[in-house]
Formats: sequence, C-alpha cells, structure tokens
Amino acid sequence: EKGGHEYFMLKEIEEQPDALANTLRGHFADGRVLLDEQRISEQDLRDVDKVFVVACGSAYHSGLVAKYAIEHWCRLPVEVELASEFRYRDPVLDRDTLVVAVSQSGETADTLEAIRHARAQKARVLAVCNTNGAQIPRESDAVLYTHAGPEIGVASTKAFLAQIAANYLVGLALAQARGTKYPDEVAREFEELEAIPDAVRRVLSTVAQMRALARQLADAKAVLFLGRHVGYPVALEGALKLKELAYMHAEGFAAGELKHGPIALIEEGLPVVVVMPSPKGRAVLHAKLLSNISEIQARGARTIVLAEEGDETVRPFADDLIELPTVSTLLQPLVATVPLQVFSAEIARSRGYDVDKPRNLAKSVTVE
Ligand code: F6R
Repeated sequence: EKGGHEYFMLKEIEEQPDALANTLRGHFADGRVLLDEQRISEQDLRDVDKVFVVACGSAYHSGLVAKYAIEHWCRLPVEVELASEFRYRDPVLDRDTLVVAVSQSGETADTLEAIRHARAQKARVLAVCNTNGAQIPRESDAVLYTHAGPEIGVASTKAFLAQIAANYLVGLALAQARGTKYPDEVAREFEELEAIPDAVRRVLSTVAQMRALARQLADAKAVLFLGRHVGYPVALEGALKLKELAYMHAEGFAAGELKHGPIALIEEGLPVVVVMPSPKGRAVLHAKLLSNISEIQARGARTIVLAEEGDETVRPFADDLIELPTVSTLLQPLVATVPLQVFSAEIARSRGYDVDKPRNLAKSVTVE
C-alpha cells in the first residue's frame, strides 16, 4: 500500500502531480473558473470587500501564499490568520467578508471554532478541504475540495500543494466575479496552474541531490530558511517540516528581516536554505536576495540555494544549488516546496525517526 516506498510520506510526495491535477480538474469550462458546491452566489463574490484566510500549521502557510495572489489579482485586502488566534480576537467582519477556512482534515478544532465565530458575525465561509463531508465543510456556506486523496503521513505534503492550488482557484473566481482580471487573463492564469503538475514531476526527477544533501546535514544543530514574497511562506513551511519530522531547530525568516535580528544567528557552517525568486519575474526581489545570500555567506553559513534553472547569477553564492523549473512568480511555491519536503523526510530517516508518525503529533488535531 506504500507503493514500494518505505514511508507513506515519500509516496505522497510523489503523488503531488496527481493531487494538483485532480484538484484543478473540472474547475475551468467555457472560459470561466468554477468553484464546486456553491452556496455563495456570484453576486456575493462580487460584493466581497475583505478576505480572511483562517487555518493552522501547513494549511496556514498555504493561506500566506494565497495572500500574494489574491491581493494582486483581486485588489482585495487579505488577512491570513492562525485559527487559534482569530477565534479569540475580535476580528472585524460582516456579510461582505469572505472567510476561507483551509483544512486538510476538515476537523481541526481551532479552525472549526474560527468559522463558527465568523458565521456568527454573518461573514460568508468557504471551506477548502480534503475530506468529504467533514465538519468544517458541513458548517461552511460553500466548499472547494482539494482532491489530494487520503494523506496518511502526519506531515502534510500533497494536501498542502493542493491547498495552494485551491486557494488560487478561489482567487481567480474572485477576480473573475469582480472583473479585476479580464477573462483571457483568468484563462491564462488557469493554464499556468495546469502546467504545474508537469513542473512538479520534473522536480521529483531531481530529488536525489536533495537526499544526498540531507544525509550530509543530518547532524546539523539547526537549519535556517529564508525567502521573500511567496518564498517567505515556503521558508516557513520548510522549517515546520524539519521541526516536526527531524526534531531539529529550524526557523523560517523573511529575508528582509535578517538585519533586524536573525543575522546574529549565522555562524560558521550553519546550513541556510534560501528560496530564490526567478530573475525574470521580480528582478528587484532577486537582487535583494542575492545580497542577503552574500551577507550570510560572508559570515560563514553553508548556503543551500533553490533557484530557477539557468540562473547563473546565484552560483557564486550557493554552496549547494538546487535547480527548479521555470514557472511564474506566484506559482513558484508549488515547485520550491517539494525539495524541502524531501530534505526533511530524508534527514528524519537518516536520524532513524518514523517519517510517517513524528512524535507527539496527530494527523487531525481535534483538541484545542
Ligand atoms: C504539518 C501539518 C499540520 C497541519 C495542521 C492543520 O505538516 O500537517 O501543521 O497542516 O495541523 O491540519 P488541517 O489541514 O487538517 O486543518
């Protein structure tokens, strides 16, 4: 049942192209993005004036990624909130607020309470969920299912990528309803999303390098992850995976924050994983990150750089260079996350830990 793999997680990492394709399937027809079971009308979508994404853990990171896309495509303010914080605050919501609750299991207690809190204030709730008929979709106004298939490994992999894809569908549906994107632009964005499963397949064919690197670094005391823009949530997700699977101290930082504190952590030999944006996309972001890497390299860090294939500018700064296929800026998290999943799983395996069942963690967190 593990398809020849030692762990479900490794099988699920390989299933990501299918998880993405299945999540996108059927969501574009006659030139329009379609959401599934809609009890939120087109008019409601048009009236949305604010979006909250509420979620926990990796699902929260998928929301952080979506913020960049939804703000850019829809010109709507988007706040991404940890469900466990949102529910105890007094967030400002009304019937024109769209709350997107992202949950693989659909049973996470804090996320469930967060949507109850939102609905009590008349906000409309759209669940992005991987589990048919779970409590969160049952209590939502609408649901968009991620069709990642059952995820057995406790650490989220294919469900996480599917959540990003589904959140992007929500963003495109909002842009379409609000008219902030022309139909041909929406179609083009959808086509780019549809090309991602193949890009992920290409990443999967190159993971041997990441495995070898993980084995070399299995005794590291700590690993830092840096990114900017959509690379920042990728860094957070990379660090979370390493904590939960390898029980290692790991932190994700926005690279621009380095000088405001974290750079003090850099010491000789400390592995630092850097998620580089495309040099062709946002040139300014690329230049800023190059200068961040040179700073940490000058202080003796071991730089592990994930960069777009053909990006030669980064080579002098990369002790290890992991090449990613070329995709648009907003879609890069869907390819850049994959080597980081492999990295954590392989470190955990080298350390002799159970990759599928990390200590102290449960697949579905139904206690608060
Ligand atoms: C991390 C992980 C957790 C979950 C979180 C939310 O690998 O799996 O952080 O993402 O517990 O779970 P769901 O999505 O079921 O609400």
